[in-house]
Amino acid sequence: MTQSGDIPVEDFKRAATRAIDWIASYLTHPEEYPVLAQVRPGEMKTALPASAPKSAEPLDGVLDDFEEIVVPGITHWNHPCFFAYFGITGSAPGILGELLSAALNVNGMLWQTSPAATELEEVALDWLRQMLGLPEHFDGVIMDTASVSTLCAIAAARHALSDLEIRERGMSGRSDLPLLRLYTSEQAHSSVEKAALVLGLGKAGVRKVPTDDAFRLDAGALESAITEDREAGHRPFCVTATVGTTSTTSIDPIPAIAEICRREGLWLHVDAAYAGSAAVIPEYRHVLDGCEAATSVVVNPHKWLFTPIDCSALYTTRPDVLTGAFSLVPEYLRTGVDGEIRNYMDWGVSLGRRFRALKLWMVLRCFGTEGIALRLREHIRLAQQFAGRIDEHPEFERLAPTPLSVVCFRARPAHIDSDEEALNAFNETLLQRLNAGGQVYLSHTTLDGRYTLRLAIGNVRTEERHVARAWELICAEGKRLASE
Ligand SMILES: Cc1ncc(COP(=O)(O)O)c(C=O)c1O
Repeated sequence: MTQSGDIPVEDFKRAATRAIDWIASYLTHPEEYPVLAQVRPGEMKTALPASAPKSAEPLDGVLDDFEEIVVPGITHWNHPCFFAYFGITGSAPGILGELLSAALNVNGMLWQTSPAATELEEVALDWLRQMLGLPEHFDGVIMDTASVSTLCAIAAARHALSDLEIRERGMSGRSDLPLLRLYTSEQAHSSVEKAALVLGLGKAGVRKVPTDDAFRLDAGALESAITEDREAGHRPFCVTATVGTTSTTSIDPIPAIAEICRREGLWLHVDAAYAGSAAVIPEYRHVLDGCEAATSVVVNPHKWLFTPIDCSALYTTRPDVLTGAFSLVPEYLRTGVDGEIRNYMDWGVSLGRRFRALKLWMVLRCFGTEGIALRLREHIRLAQQFAGRIDEHPEFERLAPTPLSVVCFRARPAHIDSDEEALNAFNETLLQRLNAGGQVYLSHTTLDGRYTLRLAIGNVRTEERHVARAWELICAEGKRLASE
């Protein structure tokens, strides 16, 4: 018989206990699973019914299917041998934060719709700001992803061009608008260009500045590009620099870029989505040098700060401009306290907002500044050790400096030597075979036309033995491939 209301609380308790037991066991032994899901496209879909059940099913049966059908289709980001992209960790305190936030199910659009959600967001972001060494004049907001943080920052930068009245008049059908130009490096994340697409600036609105031999934005080339654009009648308005590029974790020369932005009156947005976290380590605080002069900075706790995805912290010195770009308050969202508090719905695109601050706050408390620094420092040590192994081996080479916890390298077997095309094909096959084995998962990039393997360390469960195992597998697979 179908009943109304939620499922009985006793059923919930039993299933929740089973789920927590499963999570505890999973997090203790993530190595029991292949890192990369060993399924074929469509395999999971065909294992499930084509339509939803007509009558209620017991939670236990659903959990059985979770274990038997869903989990085999999971790529295990929790696996200590997950070395692809940027390794991330949904740590225990973060998982509990997610659980409790799901239970509360508040929508933090307004202060009044849950004062604790807004105020904890302010507190957690201020704690994080201090941990990163950003000055007090930065104020923050939590977004889902760095892509959205960057989108909002660029929208604010455009809104700062008040004479163009874009908020009121828009951009289309206007012959009085110059070409608006945003500058970023050739190594910047695609989210910068995507933001330009969304904001109607188009690809033509993004000028990609060349990088130096360490894949850092060339500040001299930036300056020339801005001068050239001004002479052509274009309107420069924003520079997006990167601290920790996606491919090589290169750190753009922020102090020099900030000086150019100051002189030129441009908004400087810094994408420190991955590497910003390194500033928590006292001896790596310098990664954010120059950011004190930026207008906005994004750091993703869901990347290298042990907070479950999603959680992106956007800081800005111009919250007035950010809210000026986004605030639009219909009557039904007005409250009697609007003048005294902040309503985070005014700080970005979405009205509905998850209570993400809870998990961030729990992570910061449960690890502490020292605990976070200790873990990040270890990731960097492991990456440097791996880089050393690459450097010592005659048939491997590093293809970029290793400032943090990501190593870019390739195999260079003697029989291929310097045939670049053959080297690319060899390394691509090497990566495919390594990943298909299910014991490790690495990703790739291209640097100066060279197919490059990336080993990224960022998982809280990764130990020296896991990186050693990856090295063993890479050497063995490389040898096997070379002998074919
Ligand atoms: C440097 C950098 N910025 C931005 C992003 C986008 O992050 P998100 O997935 O949070 O949008 C990435 C993703 O890896 C990145 O590496």
